[in-house]
Amino acid sequence: MIDDEPGAPVQEARPPAGDQARASVEGTRPAGDEPVRLRPMTEGYAPALADIVDAAAAAEARAAGREPPAPGLPERHERFVKGLARFALTDPDGAWVARAGGDLLGFGQAIRREGFWGLAMLFVHPDRQSRGIGRSLLDRCLAYAEGASVRMIMTSQDPRALRRYALAGLDIHPAVKAAGKVDRRALPSGLPGRDGDETDLDLVTAVDLPLRGASRAGDVGFLLSVGARMTVVDRGGRRGFVVVRDGNPLLLGADDPATAQALLWQAFAAAKEDADVDCYCWTAAQGWAVGVALAARLTVAPAGPLFVAGGRVPGPWLPSGWYF
Ligand SMILES: CC(C)(COP(=O)(O)OP(=O)(O)OC[C@H]1O[C@@H](n2cnc3c(N)ncnc32)[C@H](O)[C@@H]1OP(=O)(O)O)[C@@H](O)C(=O)NCCC(=O)NCCS
Repeated sequence: MIDDEPGAPVQEARPPAGDQARASVEGTRPAGDEPVRLRPMTEGYAPALADIVDAAAAAEARAAGREPPAPGLPERHERFVKGLARFALTDPDGAWVARAGGDLLGFGQAIRREGFWGLAMLFVHPDRQSRGIGRSLLDRCLAYAEGASVRMIMTSQDPRALRRYALAGLDIHPAVKAAGKVDRRALPSGLPGRDGDETDLDLVTAVDLPLRGASRAGDVGFLLSVGARMTVVDRGGRRGFVVVRDGNPLLLGADDPATAQALLWQAFAAAKEDADVDCYCWTAAQGWAVGVALAARLTVAPAGPLFVAGGRVPGPWLPSGWYF
């Protein structure tokens, strides 16, 4: 249960244009109780949003006959909640919750960075899924894409998500994931790169603009402020950066595939010997990364696809699910 927050803007949902009966559940009673309302997300919702993500992950695992994932470390949870809360500050027009009475049913969060739009999160509580709530939230998030030249979504394998993203006009790009323990004997010696920090955010912008038309500098700055590390290459006209946590490349950009490969190796070199790394959403344009993962003896397997409209998939680039 979540109560109305004093001072939070109450913006009752306006049905999206078009096929209103199917396009929106607002005002209907899908669970037979209170009507569903979409409201702007405020920071205070973040812990409850994290609970919905956990509930959805547990339900998905049970449906697949697996044990629900064990609770993560408290600091990881805190970081996750902080990240969810930040969307209400950076992208208030792209962050929405669905409620019925005092119950929080689901949420959607999208980012805008200049002409770039990306869907960061779309989750409905497992008890309320398949009743049109996800579609309504997505429509709100898509309204925030108005005027954007590029739209992207990194998705799960949920067929409901795939259906709505494809019908929203984005092109599907099949993708793989790479996971496992890095074979440290495969790590190349003499890799280029140095530790990066906030003073390298101009380099992030310089690399990102030709690559994807918008800079991730603000988001990289946030990731560094919550404990991620960055490795930077800036040598002989070759530039690139990778933001890393526990050996996982959170996001990467480079001028060329060879620099991107060196940076991915740098990320894997930062993994602890007994720790697993997890990389998601590498499309055909990330073939250079698949080569590194195979050389590091990671397991490469099919994963949720990337959806893109208005541009091609950048090459020497690894997307973050939140910041692309
Ligand atoms: C994906 C998710 C957000 C969709 O929200 P939802 O409220 O459950 O879905 P909706 O009821 O709005 O249905 C979405 C579409 O899927 C269709 N659908 C329902 N069940 C389906 C199924 N088994 N296979 C294919 N399509 C299905 C619906 O008909 C609807 O399409 P339509 O509006 O064109 O008719 C939600 O199920 C969820 O939280 N899943 C787990 C988390 C996740 O994977 N999120 C996506 C991250 S990118």
